[in-house]
Amino acid sequence: MFEKLKEAKEVFLDKLGKVDVAVITGTGIKINIAKVLKKLDYGEIPHIPETTTKSHRGYFEISDFDDKRVVVANGRFHYYEGYSLEDVVFLARLLGLSGARLIILTNAAGGLSPFFKQGDLMVANDHINMMGANPLRGKNIDELGERFPDMGEVYSRKHIEMIKKAALENGIDLKEGVYLSVAGPSMETPAETRAFRLLGADAIGMSTVPEAIALRHMGINCISISIITNLNKPDCMSKAAIDDVINVAHKSSVRLSKLITYFLGEL
Ligand code: HPA
Repeated sequence: MFEKLKEAKEVFLDKLGKVDVAVITGTGIKINIAKVLKKLDYGEIPHIPETTTKSHRGYFEISDFDDKRVVVANGRFHYYEGYSLEDVVFLARLLGLSGARLIILTNAAGGLSPFFKQGDLMVANDHINMMGANPLRGKNIDELGERFPDMGEVYSRKHIEMIKKAALENGIDLKEGVYLSVAGPSMETPAETRAFRLLGADAIGMSTVPEAIALRHMGINCISISIITNLNKPDCMSKAAIDDVINVAHKSSVRLSKLITYFLGEL
């Protein structure tokens, strides 16, 4: 796997140059930051898995923001699609190896906290991995990190504080909480929702945690921002339709883009 990453990195650097900050977008999310200088399909880089949704292949968008090179990776790989977690984290590892010192992971999530409303943004201060799998399982890639990486601060506290400040200064309501990941693709039963809330989760989704673990393993800073696309309340479950999830994610992307843009300016 490390050989594949190295090959992908060579081509990536050749075509796009070194990265400073990267954003990985979640379901229905579109991040617009600055003028896009270049677009590149994932297919142009070796070993990036093929997306299962043929209608929208993944692609990179490259922008220069102040003196920083920012790459937005549109389209990620989910465990529920059938990929191994190694494949799921390939993109995050590639961006990390290509120079990114901070990776912003975005996702659509269900809200478990009673304080959340649909369309809210939440920065994760920690996570609970309920996927039943770990991207670091198997022989350790010593070139990337150690066998038993510490997970005491998966999401960079410094950057969490910075993005909270950015939200405050822009009048954007940014919640903070614990993100719990499930394998999916089935949604949660009322009993599961109740259990996950009892465990201490504020938001729930099917991504992000594998990438965050892989990045911490590499010693690369990351933060996670969720768009709360639906409320997941055990005693009055409303059906979470994928079209609603995509619609809400799309709408809140405007606020999220504004927040990320301001935050990048403060880095
Ligand atoms: N549960 C799991 N994943 C999700 C949800 C949810 O309610 N909403 C968006 N992704």
